[in-house]
Amino acid sequence: MTRREANATLLAGAALAAMPGVALAQTTRALPAPRKDAGKPLMQSLQLRRSTREFSPRALPPQVLSEVLWAAYGVNRPSGDRTAPYWRHIMVVDVYAAMADGVWLYDPKAHALIPHLAGDIRAQTGQQDFVGAAPLNLVYVVHGERMTDIASEERRLYGSVDAAFAGQNVYLYCASEGLATVFRGAVDTAKLGRAMRLEDGQFVTFAQTVGYPPA
Ligand SMILES: Cc1cc2nc3c(=O)[nH]c(=O)nc-3n(C[C@H](O)[C@H](O)[C@H](O)COP(=O)(O)O)c2cc1C
Repeated sequence: MTRREANATLLAGAALAAMPGVALAQTTRALPAPRKDAGKPLMQSLQLRRSTREFSPRALPPQVLSEVLWAAYGVNRPSGDRTAPYWRHIMVVDVYAAMADGVWLYDPKAHALIPHLAGDIRAQTGQQDFVGAAPLNLVYVVHGERMTDIASEERRLYGSVDAAFAGQNVYLYCASEGLATVFRGAVDTAKLGRAMRLEDGQFVTFAQTVGYPPA
């Protein structure tokens, strides 16, 4: 690294540290391997799939968090492809986990959570009361800038379809494990994108709350 690059890195670090809410102290959080033999059979899970809008505040154990994220968009083949299909074989979806201890970016290749923001922004992930108290809100974010040679409305369409496939995987996992979930479009996506400090080109599509049903 040249002195100039080192200075630039230091300056960038200082700028980041000056931004309130940016997580610097948290480190990457490894997730336990998902149990591939877990859950009810597919047909029973389909029978049980539904949206639920009441959640217990009970936290999700690491094993369950791992499996929710793997179901959403985990790597399921040596090729690196995912549990959900995606447009033109171009990966545009990032899955973020908004929890009480901050916002985390799911890294499917490492099957780990990368700290993104410190602070609890769960209440900003939607317009319904339960979002602030449920343990997990997934936020499906699209890298629009990776979808070249199509119009911006098509970016929204295909990015949303990609996110919805991940959301359906989460629905089925939740049904098979007795968890509660709802896929949500009632989100102020621009405001949430700002709260999440998304980069240019990235945009929020949908969110999805996951937790236990009330006791
Ligand atoms: C694109 C989309 C957006 C949705 N947005 C919301 C939402 O913002 N809030 C909510 O409570 N449910 C939302 N839902 C869930 C639907 O209301 C629900 O799937 C529908 O009423 C059928 O109920 P079921 O999922 O229990 O079968 C959404 C579902 C989809 C597919």
